[in-house]
Parts: sequence; C-alpha cells; structure tokens
Amino acid sequence: MRLSTLQFLTFLTITNLPTCTPSTNPTPNPTQRQLQNRSKTFSIGIVLFPGYEPLDVIGPFEIFQSLSTYYPMTISFIASTTGPIPSRPPPIILSPGQPPTTTDHIISMSLLATHTFSTAPKLDILLIPGGLGNMALVQQNDTTIESFITSRYGRLKYLLSVCSGSVVLARSGVLKRKKATTNKGHWRWITQFGEGIRWVPSARWTRDGKIWTSSGVAAGMDMTYAFLEMLYGAQGGLTNVMNGIEYAPHTDPDWDPFSVVWNVPGADPQGSVESCVKPIGW
Ligand SMILES: *[C@@H]1O[C@H](CO)[C@@H](O)[C@H](O)[C@H]1NC(C)=O
Ligand SMILES: *[C@@H]1O[C@H](CO)[C@@H](O)[C@H](O)[C@H]1NC(C)=O
Repeated sequence: MRLSTLQFLTFLTITNLPTCTPSTNPTPNPTQRQLQNRSKTFSIGIVLFPGYEPLDVIGPFEIFQSLSTYYPMTISFIASTTGPIPSRPPPIILSPGQPPTTTDHIISMSLLATHTFSTAPKLDILLIPGGLGNMALVQQNDTTIESFITSRYGRLKYLLSVCSGSVVLARSGVLKRKKATTNKGHWRWITQFGEGIRWVPSARWTRDGKIWTSSGVAAGMDMTYAFLEMLYGAQGGLTNVMNGIEYAPHTDPDWDPFSVVWNVPGADPQGSVESCVKPIGW
C-alpha cells in the first residue's frame, strides 16, 4: 500500500459563522530581563530524524536565523548520526497486522545533522519537530530521542515541540501534569501517549513552565514568534524579522480553527474558523 495524505483526511462540513476579532499587536517596551536576554548567547538545538516534517524545522529556524542577525545565538542539529537526514518518512504500519507502507514515491529533502545525541553541546533551548517519522520511531520502539530529552531536561531553559513532536515529549514523561497541544489531524493517535497530560483540544500553542507545544506544522511558526516575544520582547529585532519575512503570526494562543476542521474531542464544533492577523506592530 502506498502512503498518501488522503488516508489521513476526513472531510467535514463547517457551518459555524465566523466571529473573528482582530487581535491587537502591541509592542511594549522590553523588560529589563528581555533586554538582558538580548545580549546573552542562547544555545539552540533542533532534533532531526528521518521523516521530520520540513516546515516544523524550517519555519522556526527561519525566524531563529533572521533574529540571530540581532541577538547572539548558536544552533545545533542533533540526530542519531551526523550528516544528511531525509524528510521522507520510513515505511509506516497503518493498521495492525498489515505490512508497512512503501514511501519511496514521496519526495524528500535532507538537512545536515551537526551533532549526535552523545556529542550535542550544552543547550538552552531544545526544539522537537513532528512528522510521520515519529510514527515510525514509535513502531520501531525507538526511544533514543526520549532518552535524550530526559537526560537534558533538567538543564534546559526551554523545551519546545512542534506538531507531533509532542509524542516524544509525552513518551519521555516530561509532560506529566502539564498542559500540551499537538497536531489536530492526528489528535487521537498522539494523545494516547503519556500519562496525566492535560491535552488542550483548542490551542494554537500552549506554554506550561519551560515547555511550549504547538499545534500542527505551520503553528510552529506562531509558537516560535510567541516564544521569542517572551524571551526578547517584540520591539526592535523581532518585529523587523517578522515584517522582513512578511509573516503575520497568530498571536492568540486560543485561536484554533483546525480543532474545528478536525473535529477534535473537546473542541467547540461551532468555534470560529476565521483567520485574523495583521503585521506585528500594526
Ligand atoms: C515493539 O514492541 C511491541 C510491544 O512490545 C512489539 O509487539 C513489537 O514487535 C516491537 N517492534 C519492534 C520493531 O521491535
Ligand atoms: C529571559 O527573559 C525571560 C522573560 O522576561 C525571563 O523569564 C528569563 O529569566 C530571561 N533569561 C533567560 C535565561 O531565559
């Protein structure tokens, strides 16, 4: 069987009326701590595995790289092996007892891992992307990334996941008694993992202590904006970056039309699906 996106899609009729309220994007003066953060060098790590979702990695990285022209930071791409890591997922078992799908027909790109889990440097910020590769790792009983998270968690300042990257956080145990969200199209599969997690059915992203989790794929960019706004304040570098890359992020963490689209249990089926954004600072 060939793996196709359609196997994951259900079509729903959306009948609710849009009630979009434009958000205000104030850019208040940075606090003293945010000003101090602007001159600190944050060490960022992004985990890679075969079958990461491209935008889960590149979306946040786009913002990090652009912002590094203003504030010092370092980046490490961390995987089981250094060198090219493909975005194409390995074969996946779609139903128990069935043979794995073939995935050779899926186009792919590669990113270079700079470090392995044993050579990764000290990290302040660790980001775990999602992707169908997560499903393959679960099926292979591979807990390498979970062990890496557990070994680093205490010394991390912030742990971020995008999309189904929250599966890895859930399985590592760090989400216990914490709020988290994830990809709304894969909600049922993902939320079966972990114990005592307060999964939030309608959220573009969540924050609980040092853990930030985002909804599916593109939501990672909105979470990254909110995270960096917390870290540095929006005024100056971050506002210039967002308007420079011409991306108007959703700044309301409760905005989540995809919880309506995917009929996530616990989400308001009549919730607004209208998108309501404007450039930062406007
Ligand atoms: C993973 O673990 C499950 C449950 O213990 C087992 O049934 C399965 O065969 C294992 N898969 C692999 C690839 O080792
Ligand atoms: C950076 O800024 C945030 C938000 O003001 C603050 O909580 C934090 O302590 C600062 N320092 C670091 C290392 O995150």
